[in-house]
Amino acid sequence: MTGQSEQSIVVLTGAGISKESGLDTFRDADGIWSKVNIEDVATPEAFQRNPQRVQEFYNSRRMQLVNSNVTPNAAHIALAKLEREWHGIVTIVTQNIDNLHELGGSENLIHMHGELLKARCATCQITHSWQKNLSIKTTCPSCSERNTLRPHVVWFGEMPLEMDKIHRRVDECSLFISIGTSGNVYPAAGFVQQAISAGARAVELNLEPSEGATFFSETRYGAATDIVPAFIDEVLENGL
Ligand code: APR
Repeated sequence: MTGQSEQSIVVLTGAGISKESGLDTFRDADGIWSKVNIEDVATPEAFQRNPQRVQEFYNSRRMQLVNSNVTPNAAHIALAKLEREWHGIVTIVTQNIDNLHELGGSENLIHMHGELLKARCATCQITHSWQKNLSIKTTCPSCSERNTLRPHVVWFGEMPLEMDKIHRRVDECSLFISIGTSGNVYPAAGFVQQAISAGARAVELNLEPSEGATFFSETRYGAATDIVPAFIDEVLENGL
């Protein structure tokens, strides 16, 4: 039995946690992949084949974050409260590339699929905070090379970021919470099994059962802005 102070928590989030903030998910009926093909916009081959098409796909999603009033919702805010008030380490591992966890107050955050508001140079490999459009005419602010900046986003076929750190945190956690993800994409979809075999309590909070629902010791279904704050208050009140 770990002591109170070692009771760490890992929270995995997906597009469903940002849905009520106005951002589309990927695999819901009206999701992003129902409107555009992954192969055309979210693979290294797509970028090689037609960089402008890929840049435009991310430009429109980046402008939605920058220009419209997309704000964190009660679920993001509840996770920041958990991080502030829980006695152990709370790590948010998000598949999302939006900045709503940051805006909601989370600090111990890993963006395993990258970040929409960052751009990376293929020549100097430097990553820049980026709030504008990217195009084949854009030059890198560090090395001044032209047409070398890409979205700092992990495409299908690429390795997600900070996997060693994520695996360590999952191995050490006493509670693993999965929120707003369909459990379709690995390695994220496999974290629950790793947590369970490390002896953690595993809870799924989602609108409907995910592909991995049967791996969880507990599941609660409903809108994230309802079930996440309620669950977080229970954990803070009653412990793990
Ligand atoms: N509250 C809670 N869950 C919700 C809500 C809501 N309001 N709305 C939708 N959901 C759930 C859906 O039921 C679904 O299970 O969120 C999940 C979203 O699943 P996906 O659209 O597949 O998104 P995600 O799991 O984050 O996708 C993983 O796939 O395309 C790649 O890189 C992309 O990071 C993404 C990864």
